[in-house]
Amino acid sequence: MDSLHVIASEVRSCTKCRLCETRTNAVPGVGDPEAKILFIGEGPGKDEDLQGEPFVGRAGKLLTTLLNKIGIERKDVFITNVVKCRPPNNRDPEDDEIAACWPYLDRQIHLIDPRVIVTLGRHSMKRFLPGYTISSVHGEPKRRQSDGRIIFPLYHPAMALYKPAMLDVLEKDMFKLKTMLAKIEEGTVSYKKDDSAIAHFSTEVPQKEESVNPPQTLF
Ligand code: URA
Ligand code: SF4
Repeated sequence: MDSLHVIASEVRSCTKCRLCETRTNAVPGVGDPEAKILFIGEGPGKDEDLQGEPFVGRAGKLLTTLLNKIGIERKDVFITNVVKCRPPNNRDPEDDEIAACWPYLDRQIHLIDPRVIVTLGRHSMKRFLPGYTISSVHGEPKRRQSDGRIIFPLYHPAMALYKPAMLDVLEKDMFKLKTMLAKIEEGTVSYKKDDSAIAHFSTEVPQKEESVNPPQTLF
C-alpha cells in the first residue's frame, strides 16, 4: 500500500532527474499525514537541501510566523515542494524535472487528501492554475480543473524578504485563508471535489501554457 513513508524513501533515493546529481539531501516533505491544508512551494533551497526538510530557511521561518498569526501550527499542516531536490543555485526547476518529480506530489496529494492546497509562489501556482498570473490571483481561492480541489495561491514568502511591502500582502492573504477555512468548517464553502471530475483525474503534468478553460472562480 502506498504511504507517505514509502514516497519519502523513494524520493530520498530517487535518480529520475538531473537534480539528484547536485543535491545533498532530497526533501520529500513534512507534516501531518492527515493535514487539512497542504502547502506546496517550488523547490528546496540551500538550507532545505542541507537539512532535508522543506521551508526551514529564512523564507520558511516567515511561513511559520505567518501560519502562527492565523492560529495554525506548522506541525498541523503538510509542507512540500513541486520538485523534491534543490535546483543548483536556486534556479527555476526545468519542465522535465517537474515532470519527473510530479508523480511523488500527485501521490502525496491523494494520500493526504487535503481540504485546501496552498501554492507558494508563481511557479507552484502555475502547475495548479494554468492561465493565471500570481499578481491577479493571489489570495483568491479557485477550484482546480482536473479534480475540483480548492487551490489557494499565495505569494512566495521569500518575496517579503526582498520586498518588505509584500509582507502586508502576504499577511492579508493569510487572513483570507483563515476566513475561507472557517467557511469550510461551518459548511458555507464545500471543499469536496466534484466526483465527476475525479473520474477524469489526470496525472499529466500541467504545462505552463494558458489553459483553454480557466479554473472556476469559487467566490
Ligand atoms: N522555497 C521553496 O520554494 N521551498 C522550500 O522548501 C524553501 C524555500
Ligand atoms: Fe527525483 Fe524529484 Fe529529486 Fe528529480 S527532483 S531526482 S525526480 S526526487
